[in-house]
Amino acid sequence: MDYSLSEKAMAFDHGLPLAKSHVTTQVSSRQRPQPYWQRLFKSALLYFGFLYLSAVLILRRPLVWPFSWPDCHHNKLSHDQLRQIIFDTPSSQRAEEWSRYYTAGPHLAGKNLSQALWTQTKWEQFGINAEINTYDVYINYPKDHRLALLKKKDEKDGISTWEVSFEASLEEDIIEEDPTSGLQDRIPTFHGYSASGNVTAPVVYVNYGTYQDFEDLLKANVPLEGKIAIARYGGIFRGLKVKRAQELGMVGVILYSDPGDDGDVTDEKGVKTYPDGPARQPSSVQRGSTQFLSVAPGDPTTPGYPSKPGAPRQPVHTAIPSIPSIPISYVDALPILKALNGHGPKAADFNQWWTRNAGLGYKGVDYNVGPTPDHVVVNLYNEQDYVTTPLWNVIGVINGTIPDEVIVVGNHRDAWVAGGAGDPNSGSAVFNEVIRSFGEALRLGWKPLRTIVFASWDGEEYGLIGSTEWVEEYLPWLKDAIVAYVNTDVGCRGKFLTASAAPLLNQIIYEATKSVPSPNQTIAGQSVYDVWDKKIRTMGSGSDFTAFQDFAGIPSVDIGFNNDIHSAVYHYHSNYDSFHWMEKFGDPGFVYHRTMAQIFGLIVAQLADLPIIQFGAKDYAVALNSYVDKVEGKLEAILSPIEFATSSLVDDEEAIFEMRASQRNTSSLVNSSKKDSPNLPALKFKKSLKGLHKVIGKFKKQAKKLDEAAEELRLELADNDIPWWNLPAKFKLWHRIRSVNTKYKLLERSFLYDQGLDGRPWFKHVVFAPGLWTGYSGAVFPGLVESIDVEDWTNARRWVDIIESRIKNAAKAIGEHKEKR
Ligand SMILES: *[C@@H]1O[C@H](CO)[C@@H](O)[C@H](O)[C@H]1NC(C)=O
Ligand SMILES: *[C@@H]1O[C@H](CO)[C@@H](O)[C@H](O)[C@H]1NC(C)=O
Ligand SMILES: *[C@@H]1O[C@H](CO)[C@@H](O)[C@H](O)[C@H]1NC(C)=O
Ligand SMILES: *[C@@H]1O[C@H](CO)[C@@H](O)[C@H](O)[C@H]1NC(C)=O
Ligand SMILES: *[C@@H]1O[C@H](CO)[C@@H](O)[C@H](O)[C@H]1NC(C)=O
Ligand SMILES: *[C@@H]1O[C@H](CO)[C@@H](O)[C@H](O)[C@H]1NC(C)=O
Repeated sequence: MDYSLSEKAMAFDHGLPLAKSHVTTQVSSRQRPQPYWQRLFKSALLYFGFLYLSAVLILRRPLVWPFSWPDCHHNKLSHDQLRQIIFDTPSSQRAEEWSRYYTAGPHLAGKNLSQALWTQTKWEQFGINAEINTYDVYINYPKDHRLALLKKKDEKDGISTWEVSFEASLEEDIIEEDPTSGLQDRIPTFHGYSASGNVTAPVVYVNYGTYQDFEDLLKANVPLEGKIAIARYGGIFRGLKVKRAQELGMVGVILYSDPGDDGDVTDEKGVKTYPDGPARQPSSVQRGSTQFLSVAPGDPTTPGYPSKPGAPRQPVHTAIPSIPSIPISYVDALPILKALNGHGPKAADFNQWWTRNAGLGYKGVDYNVGPTPDHVVVNLYNEQDYVTTPLWNVIGVINGTIPDEVIVVGNHRDAWVAGGAGDPNSGSAVFNEVIRSFGEALRLGWKPLRTIVFASWDGEEYGLIGSTEWVEEYLPWLKDAIVAYVNTDVGCRGKFLTASAAPLLNQIIYEATKSVPSPNQTIAGQSVYDVWDKKIRTMGSGSDFTAFQDFAGIPSVDIGFNNDIHSAVYHYHSNYDSFHWMEKFGDPGFVYHRTMAQIFGLIVAQLADLPIIQFGAKDYAVALNSYVDKVEGKLEAILSPIEFATSSLVDDEEAIFEMRASQRNTSSLVNSSKKDSPNLPALKFKKSLKGLHKVIGKFKKQAKKLDEAAEELRLELADNDIPWWNLPAKFKLWHRIRSVNTKYKLLERSFLYDQGLDGRPWFKHVVFAPGLWTGYSGAVFPGLVESIDVEDWTNARRWVDIIESRIKNAAKAIGEHKEKR
């Protein structure tokens, strides 16, 4: 905590009485005749007046007195005027121009310095000072690969001869209309952080490759050891599929995109494929990182500290795979899946999770699990070049008036492909428009109260590297000064707003979306808020907010326009996430880009420019209660698993996988089912959660008080009638504002636990973390929930205690404390 400013202020507070007593002692000690006494009195008055005047002057200095003095920090713009500029400035044409630039050539992490320099130059043209910030990180670039299906032709004298029955192309088709798909220097299909290797083995179909899918296979006695897994993409973070396969002794992993997951927009349902229509281009391949994201993001050789040149490197990479993996299209997957036909159990023999969205039946795939017989094997060869190489973040700063209240705003720039029109450069285009808007406001005389840091991250795709290393480097300052982090990754790939955020930020998101009209004017005048599902998800991982939220305890928001199951298929991490696709299918006219820039800009403006930080502490308390309810629901599931499994079927993909992850220890679930014998420890434990609700109740009381104090201050500021000379009143008001803002600023930090989560100590937040076995989606109370998953009641008890102490901590931090006078 930083009290330096308050101390300065307190010294000043004592200044007046001190000076007074000093004067009186002087006077009384020197018994002089009347005229001299009068003279002295006059000079005392002068002295006093001088002191007061200098105090006024000092207080006029924005550093100490930023609020309510007209023009005090030379701000010519009111908040409403700022909002108008942030709203008016973004343009679709400009966003399109930036999109066209970023998607013109490859910009894999650490491979395109000129894009970093271009970004820096642009921001400076917009009026924002910017610098390049460099880290040396350990990453891989693709060298060579092969995937083939081999059949034994012959065996003579113990020597077998094999014939290649299928050679995968491992290439995405070149499409004439889509110039980036045919670039000479286009990026091959590969996985970030995948291991090099050359393996040949029978293949097993492992469904989505979730923890539970593997459990199902083990239960069905499907041999996994020594085999190669083929899994469909989806549901959980890809690296965790590889992680589980590796743990079970499999030797390689193939990941393919099953069109069944494309909803209504499929070739099978008669929809034309890209570029002729919105369905998936059959040869499209999803690249991506296979880092074990839920264990630790960032440079795997420098866990917890920045990858500066010369930094010590850890030789053991526990957060990246040791078996090779390769991404392929469904066209390349077909012969391999068909080779499984007739071997081993069928997916349909398992449960609904195995047949859900399995979309290649119409192409002759029976979805047998396998393994293929020993005379039908796959050769998977993957060669990666591992290097330690510089990454370039671009960091722009607008200095605010209050030095220790800072907003960080970010988007990553690197992409898996030359295009990346959706991921991430729709976000980059939006981001540039936001920065241009703030530059415009500065030009018109605006000066923010809070410092705004803009960050164009590099290396996000491999494992949130640029942002994680930056947070690790500036951690002490960030913990002291950062109010919030605002992120956009894919700014736009469809028409449906999705947001995840720490509960403190809920109101700001609602407010911003209410202020921006939707491009959808089916009902005239409707705002983005009006057409939005208004769901704010919990913070998981998968983008650059992770280090801020989960490691540094900084409330974060991640926001963007998404597609749904009726929208044009988004070719995630594929060559067809291109400018051409965006222009034709994703966001024709770039209207949602502009809308996104308006929402994003307004969120930043509210955070940076309002005297009272616009947080809702009560929303946090409400959320905490709902998370405890969720944990109780999980215990309910353990107490009666059968009812739970059938009653909670939901449509939401994320919820489904959360549920799947929550049921991961099936055998123990089944054994503890109600009808055998009641699970007494679970029952007992469930009761103990009442204490948690109680502690949250206390926190909620304090949170309500804080919100009320903030609201009161807002009203007072709105009709500020303290005369200019009444310093004590002004000082008191300032002190109250500082106190409320500091409490809001540091609230999220109360939820950090230094030792971190079990087995993944980098993750410090006791409320939010990526699910251990989902990666993207957020787990609430991760330490507690993971203990319940394995029915380790002692550890679960320990986590309840930790969480309770954190919540008490939070209540204390925001509670009224005696202010030193
Ligand atoms: C870097 O990006 C620019 C703009 O997209 C592109 O024109 C250029 O070819 C890229 N450079 C390299 C070395 O890939
Ligand atoms: C991979 O290993 C096989 C033997 O298992 C060998 O025939 C093949 O040449 C190897 N491939 C490469 C690219 O080294
Ligand atoms: C912002 O403030 C920092 C620290 O006081 C200073 O080093 C930097 O030069 C300032 N930047 C601008 C653009 O004024
Ligand atoms: C457009 O607005 C209408 C009316 O509110 C709504 O029913 C529809 O779902 C919206 N469509 C999109 C793509 O936002
Ligand atoms: C579940 O119960 C069955 C039969 O009662 C037993 O064989 C099995 O080991 C039990 N599994 C666990 C994990 O306790
Ligand atoms: C499943 O639960 C049982 C009983 O609590 C435990 O012994 C076992 O290790 C768990 N399995 C996994 C994979 O977590």
